[in-house]
Amino acid sequence: MSEIIEKIKANEISVLIRPMHINDVNTIFTVQKETFPADDLFECYEAFENKFLVYPQGCFCVELILDGEIVDQENIHTYEPSSDLELNKKKLLGHFFSHPWAKGEFPPLNNAKAISDGVGKIIDKSTGELTSDVNPENIMLYLNEIAVRPMGRGFNLARLLTNRVLHHLSKQSPSFDHIGLVSVQGSHVVWSSIGFDIDHNIPQKKRDYLSKNYGEKSCYMKLDYSKKVKTLKNNQLYLCPNLRTNNVNSGLYHYGKLFKEVKRVSKL
Ligand SMILES: CC(C)(COP(=O)(O)OP(=O)(O)OC[C@H]1O[C@@H](n2cnc3c(N)ncnc32)[C@H](O)[C@@H]1OP(=O)(O)O)[C@@H](O)C(=O)NCCC(=O)NCCS
Repeated sequence: MSEIIEKIKANEISVLIRPMHINDVNTIFTVQKETFPADDLFECYEAFENKFLVYPQGCFCVELILDGEIVDQENIHTYEPSSDLELNKKKLLGHFFSHPWAKGEFPPLNNAKAISDGVGKIIDKSTGELTSDVNPENIMLYLNEIAVRPMGRGFNLARLLTNRVLHHLSKQSPSFDHIGLVSVQGSHVVWSSIGFDIDHNIPQKKRDYLSKNYGEKSCYMKLDYSKKVKTLKNNQLYLCPNLRTNNVNSGLYHYGKLFKEVKRVSKL
């Protein structure tokens, strides 16, 4: 039996950041309108499925731990969420899709084939490493989608999730110094607060492409990860003020009684 088994105290809210599983994809697809209400941003199930399948090691979820639930953190890499969609909808608070992509390029939305073809050229599926055809200098880690559902917003989960995942991936192979994302719906405020900068140097043609496909408020942002973290306290992009521990190697975060809205959900 694992030594690190935590029993969640009944009157406390905890969240878990853990690897994504194929069972999560349908939940993410089903609740997408909560986080991306505009019809232009809608993506079909296959697009979500491929975002996961092309690079599962870059995909994570943040999940509510229900009262009395037990989490085995040591075996979290084999964690399998339920296949019960209704239960998953209560527990899933947010998600994170990332995969390698050509620097300065953006994959089209709602296009499952473009994602698998693009990543297929960069990553050797059998080894998980970069293919010999690509020059690592030209590749970035692209944060394809980060979302926190309305019931979990305002608790620093997006920053916590990004901090945790980028720290984890920086220790894996291949690792990426250049991290890129397309900020939509005014979310650049969140990404700026953890060190991303808007790239004002992208060509006009790409700028037009972004505003046409991702909305007028969209912008391309980038981060030089290892350079940035070296300048920061504890080598972390983000230290969460509400938490008892900011241990970036642990996926389990205890929020005490602060998490009122989500606490209501955990009682359902
Ligand atoms: C953007 C999003 C992921 C932020 O999640 P979150 O967990 O609430 O964010 P955090 O708690 O880590 O950060 C909150 C901070 O960012 C600000 N913020 C969050 N979303 C914002 C937005 N869309 N516009 C402006 N500010 C925003 C908050 O006011 C808060 O600032 P403060 O610390 O000064 O109070 C979430 O609102 C979301 O899923 N939005 C819809 C999907 C989306 O647009 N994703 C971004 C794709 S690039």
